[in-house]
Amino acid sequence: MNILIAGANGTTGKQIIGELSKNPQMNVFGMIRKEEQAQTIKELGGHPVLADLEGNVDKAVDNMEAIIFAAGSGPKTGPDKTTAVDKNGAIKLVDAAKKKGIERFIMLSSVGTDDPEQAQEGMRHYLEAKHDADEHLKASGLTYTIVRPVALTNEQAIGKIFAEAKVDHANKSIPRADVASVLAQSITAENTFNKTFEIFSGTSPIKEALNNI
Ligand SMILES: NC(=O)c1ccc[n+]([C@@H]2O[C@H](COP(=O)([O-])OP(=O)(O)OC[C@H]3O[C@@H](n4cnc5c(N)ncnc54)[C@H](OP(=O)(O)O)[C@@H]3O)[C@@H](O)[C@H]2O)c1
Repeated sequence: MNILIAGANGTTGKQIIGELSKNPQMNVFGMIRKEEQAQTIKELGGHPVLADLEGNVDKAVDNMEAIIFAAGSGPKTGPDKTTAVDKNGAIKLVDAAKKKGIERFIMLSSVGTDDPEQAQEGMRHYLEAKHDADEHLKASGLTYTIVRPVALTNEQAIGKIFAEAKVDHANKSIPRADVASVLAQSITAENTFNKTFEIFSGTSPIKEALNNI
Protein backbone atom coordinates (compact mmCIF):
# COMPACT_ATOMS: atom_id res chain seq x y z
CA MET A 1 0.00 0.00 0.00
CA ASN A 2 1.33 3.46 -0.91
CA ILE A 3 0.92 5.75 2.06
CA LEU A 4 1.78 9.44 2.39
CA ILE A 5 2.74 11.00 5.73
CA ALA A 6 2.24 14.77 5.97
CA GLY A 7 4.53 16.19 8.66
CA ALA A 8 7.03 13.40 7.97
CA ASN A 9 10.00 15.35 9.32
CA GLY A 10 8.21 16.04 12.60
CA THR A 11 8.89 14.33 15.92
CA THR A 12 5.85 12.08 15.53
CA GLY A 13 6.08 11.91 11.72
CA LYS A 14 9.56 10.39 11.78
CA GLN A 15 8.36 7.68 14.15
CA ILE A 16 5.40 6.92 11.89
CA ILE A 17 7.78 6.48 8.93
CA GLY A 18 10.04 4.21 11.01
CA GLU A 19 7.11 2.13 12.22
CA LEU A 20 5.47 1.72 8.81
CA SER A 21 8.73 0.98 7.01
CA LYS A 22 9.08 -2.20 9.08
CA ASN A 23 5.97 -3.53 7.33
CA PRO A 24 6.88 -4.96 3.91
CA GLN A 25 3.31 -4.34 2.72
CA MET A 26 3.66 -0.59 3.18
CA ASN A 27 5.42 1.68 0.71
CA VAL A 28 5.94 4.82 2.77
CA PHE A 29 6.22 8.36 1.38
CA GLY A 30 7.18 11.29 3.62
CA MET A 31 6.07 14.82 2.71
CA ILE A 32 8.86 17.28 3.51
CA ARG A 33 9.24 21.01 2.92
CA LYS A 34 13.00 21.15 2.44
CA GLU A 35 15.32 19.14 0.18
CA GLU A 36 17.81 18.71 3.04
CA GLN A 37 15.22 16.69 5.02
CA ALA A 38 15.17 13.98 2.33
CA GLN A 39 18.10 12.00 3.75
CA THR A 40 16.35 11.59 7.11
CA ILE A 41 13.27 10.16 5.42
CA LYS A 42 15.40 7.77 3.35
CA GLU A 43 17.33 6.61 6.42
CA LEU A 44 14.01 5.79 8.11
CA GLY A 45 13.01 3.66 5.11
CA GLY A 46 10.67 6.14 3.40
CA HIS A 47 10.61 7.95 0.07
CA PRO A 48 10.77 11.75 0.34
CA VAL A 49 8.12 13.84 -1.43
CA LEU A 50 8.77 17.58 -1.62
CA ALA A 51 5.59 19.59 -0.97
CA ASP A 52 4.31 22.39 1.24
CA LEU A 53 0.85 22.33 2.79
CA GLU A 54 0.66 26.06 2.13
CA GLY A 55 1.21 25.38 -1.57
CA ASN A 56 -0.04 22.80 -4.06
CA VAL A 57 -0.25 19.23 -2.77
CA ASP A 58 -1.97 17.56 -5.73
CA LYS A 59 1.23 15.99 -7.09
CA ALA A 60 2.25 14.74 -3.64
CA VAL A 61 -0.85 12.56 -3.37
CA ASP A 62 -0.46 11.00 -6.83
CA ASN A 63 -0.61 7.18 -6.62
CA MET A 64 -1.24 7.19 -2.87
CA GLU A 65 -3.74 4.81 -1.30
CA ALA A 66 -3.79 6.25 2.22
CA ILE A 67 -2.73 9.47 3.95
CA ILE A 68 -1.73 10.22 7.53
CA PHE A 69 -1.84 13.90 8.51
CA ALA A 70 0.71 14.46 11.30
CA ALA A 71 1.76 18.00 10.37
CA GLY A 72 1.32 21.12 12.45
CA SER A 73 2.64 24.66 12.50
CA GLY A 74 3.73 24.25 16.14
CA PRO A 75 3.63 26.67 19.06
CA LYS A 76 6.47 28.90 17.81
CA THR A 77 4.47 30.40 14.92
CA GLY A 78 1.44 32.68 15.13
CA PRO A 79 -2.27 32.05 14.59
CA ASP A 80 -1.94 32.80 10.86
CA LYS A 81 0.24 29.70 10.41
CA THR A 82 -2.09 27.62 12.58
CA THR A 83 -4.90 28.53 10.20
CA ALA A 84 -2.71 27.99 7.12
CA VAL A 85 -1.28 24.60 8.11
CA ASP A 86 -3.35 22.91 10.84
CA LYS A 87 -6.67 23.92 9.30
CA ASN A 88 -6.31 24.86 5.62
CA GLY A 89 -3.38 22.50 4.96
CA ALA A 90 -5.33 19.56 6.36
CA ILE A 91 -8.48 20.54 4.46
CA LYS A 92 -6.45 20.88 1.26
CA LEU A 93 -5.00 17.40 1.70
CA VAL A 94 -8.45 15.90 2.34
CA ASP A 95 -9.75 17.58 -0.83
CA ALA A 96 -6.73 16.41 -2.84
CA ALA A 97 -7.32 12.84 -1.59
CA LYS A 98 -10.96 13.03 -2.57
CA LYS A 99 -10.12 14.37 -6.03
CA LYS A 100 -7.68 11.52 -6.63
CA GLY A 101 -9.98 8.80 -5.25
CA ILE A 102 -7.80 8.04 -2.22
CA GLU A 103 -10.23 6.60 0.28
CA ARG A 104 -8.27 6.24 3.51
CA PHE A 105 -7.34 9.27 5.65
CA ILE A 106 -5.98 9.23 9.19
CA MET A 107 -5.85 12.50 11.13
CA LEU A 108 -3.60 13.23 14.10
CA SER A 109 -5.91 15.52 16.02
CA SER A 110 -5.95 16.47 19.72
CA VAL A 111 -8.09 16.18 22.82
CA GLY A 112 -10.12 19.35 23.23
CA THR A 113 -10.81 19.57 19.51
CA ASP A 114 -14.42 18.48 19.98
CA ASP A 115 -15.22 21.58 22.06
CA PRO A 116 -12.71 24.43 21.56
CA GLU A 117 -15.01 26.86 23.41
CA GLN A 118 -14.12 25.09 26.66
CA ALA A 119 -10.37 25.53 26.12
CA GLN A 120 -8.05 28.03 27.76
CA GLU A 121 -7.78 31.13 25.61
CA GLY A 122 -4.22 30.35 24.50
CA MET A 123 -5.29 27.02 23.03
CA ARG A 124 -8.62 28.06 21.54
CA HIS A 125 -7.50 29.16 18.08
CA TYR A 126 -5.40 26.01 17.60
CA LEU A 127 -8.25 23.75 18.75
CA GLU A 128 -10.74 25.58 16.53
CA ALA A 129 -8.42 25.06 13.55
CA LYS A 130 -8.09 21.35 14.35
CA HIS A 131 -11.85 21.13 14.94
CA ASP A 132 -12.61 22.59 11.52
CA ALA A 133 -10.14 20.22 9.84
CA ASP A 134 -11.65 17.21 11.64
CA GLU A 135 -15.20 18.23 10.68
CA HIS A 136 -14.16 18.69 7.05
CA LEU A 137 -12.64 15.21 7.01
CA LYS A 138 -15.76 13.68 8.62
CA ALA A 139 -17.98 15.30 5.99
CA SER A 140 -15.69 14.36 3.09
CA GLY A 141 -16.98 10.86 2.46
CA LEU A 142 -13.44 9.44 2.88
CA THR A 143 -12.93 6.50 5.23
CA TYR A 144 -11.47 8.45 8.12
CA THR A 145 -9.91 7.77 11.50
CA ILE A 146 -9.45 10.76 13.79
CA VAL A 147 -7.01 10.11 16.65
CA ARG A 148 -7.03 12.62 19.51
CA PRO A 149 -4.12 12.18 21.91
CA VAL A 150 -3.49 13.94 25.19
CA ALA A 151 -0.16 15.77 25.80
CA LEU A 152 2.66 14.13 23.82
CA THR A 153 6.00 13.15 25.36
CA ASN A 154 9.29 11.90 23.95
CA GLU A 155 9.40 8.95 26.35
CA GLN A 156 10.00 5.45 25.01
CA ALA A 157 7.04 3.53 23.66
CA ILE A 158 4.96 1.69 26.25
CA GLY A 159 2.81 -0.11 23.68
CA LYS A 160 -0.27 0.15 25.88
CA ILE A 161 -3.02 2.74 25.69
CA PHE A 162 -6.49 3.68 26.80
CA ALA A 163 -8.79 4.60 23.91
CA GLU A 164 -12.36 5.87 24.14
CA ALA A 165 -14.58 8.28 22.24
CA LYS A 166 -14.07 10.69 25.15
CA VAL A 167 -11.54 10.35 27.97
CA ASP A 168 -10.87 12.26 31.17
CA HIS A 169 -7.48 13.59 30.12
CA ALA A 170 -6.42 15.69 33.11
CA ASN A 171 -2.74 15.02 33.96
CA LYS A 172 -2.49 12.31 31.30
CA SER A 173 0.20 11.93 28.62
CA ILE A 174 1.31 9.55 25.89
CA PRO A 175 4.66 9.00 24.16
CA ARG A 176 4.78 10.12 20.52
CA ALA A 177 6.11 6.63 19.74
CA ASP A 178 2.80 5.11 20.88
CA VAL A 179 0.79 7.70 18.96
CA ALA A 180 2.83 6.78 15.87
CA SER A 181 1.90 3.10 16.40
CA VAL A 182 -1.78 3.94 16.80
CA LEU A 183 -1.77 5.97 13.57
CA ALA A 184 0.16 3.28 11.69
CA GLN A 185 -2.04 0.42 12.92
CA SER A 186 -5.22 2.40 12.25
CA ILE A 187 -4.57 2.32 8.50
CA THR A 188 -5.79 -1.27 8.31
CA ALA A 189 -7.64 -1.68 11.63
CA GLU A 190 -11.20 -1.77 10.31
CA ASN A 191 -12.71 -1.15 13.73
CA THR A 192 -11.24 2.37 13.62
CA PHE A 193 -12.81 3.22 10.25
CA ASN A 194 -15.05 6.30 10.42
CA LYS A 195 -14.36 6.74 14.12
CA THR A 196 -13.00 9.54 16.28
CA PHE A 197 -11.35 8.62 19.57
CA GLU A 198 -9.11 9.99 22.31
CA ILE A 199 -6.04 8.19 23.65
CA PHE A 200 -3.58 8.26 26.56
CA SER A 201 -1.09 5.77 28.01
CA GLY A 202 -3.07 2.92 29.52
CA THR A 203 -3.12 -0.80 30.08
CA SER A 204 -4.36 -2.34 26.83
CA PRO A 205 -1.99 -3.40 24.05
CA ILE A 206 -2.56 -0.99 21.15
CA LYS A 207 -4.00 -3.63 18.81
CA GLU A 208 -6.47 -4.78 21.46
CA ALA A 209 -7.47 -1.21 22.34
CA LEU A 210 -8.14 -0.41 18.67
CA ASN A 211 -10.27 -3.54 18.34
CA ASN A 212 -12.41 -2.47 21.28
CA ILE A 213 -13.18 1.17 20.57
N1 LIG B 1 2.32 18.58 21.46
C1 LIG B 1 1.30 17.96 22.01
O1 LIG B 1 1.27 17.71 23.22
C2 LIG B 1 0.14 17.51 21.13
C3 LIG B 1 -0.97 16.93 21.73
C4 LIG B 1 -2.00 16.46 20.92
C5 LIG B 1 -1.90 16.57 19.53
N2 LIG B 1 -0.81 17.15 18.96
C6 LIG B 1 -0.74 17.24 17.49
O2 LIG B 1 0.34 16.44 17.03
C7 LIG B 1 0.96 17.09 15.93
C8 LIG B 1 2.36 16.57 15.72
O3 LIG B 1 3.13 16.87 16.86
P1 LIG B 1 4.73 16.85 16.77
O4 LIG B 1 5.24 17.20 18.10
O5 LIG B 1 5.17 15.60 16.08
O6 LIG B 1 4.96 18.07 15.76
P2 LIG B 1 6.31 18.61 15.09
O7 LIG B 1 7.50 17.86 15.55
O8 LIG B 1 6.31 20.10 15.25
O9 LIG B 1 6.09 18.25 13.53
C9 LIG B 1 5.22 18.96 12.73
C10 LIG B 1 5.65 18.76 11.29
O10 LIG B 1 4.75 19.49 10.44
C11 LIG B 1 5.54 20.03 9.38
N3 LIG B 1 4.94 21.20 8.76
C12 LIG B 1 4.71 22.41 9.33
N4 LIG B 1 4.23 23.25 8.40
C13 LIG B 1 4.16 22.57 7.23
C14 LIG B 1 3.79 22.90 5.90
N5 LIG B 1 3.37 24.14 5.57
N6 LIG B 1 3.86 21.95 4.94
C15 LIG B 1 4.29 20.68 5.24
N7 LIG B 1 4.69 20.31 6.47
C16 LIG B 1 4.62 21.25 7.46
C17 LIG B 1 6.87 20.42 10.03
O11 LIG B 1 7.84 20.52 9.02
P3 LIG B 1 9.37 20.99 9.30
O12 LIG B 1 10.04 19.76 9.86
O13 LIG B 1 9.86 21.39 7.96
O14 LIG B 1 9.30 22.12 10.29
C18 LIG B 1 7.09 19.26 10.99
O15 LIG B 1 7.82 18.24 10.36
C19 LIG B 1 0.86 18.57 16.32
O16 LIG B 1 0.94 19.41 15.20
C20 LIG B 1 -0.47 18.65 16.99
O17 LIG B 1 -1.48 18.98 16.05
C21 LIG B 1 0.21 17.63 19.74
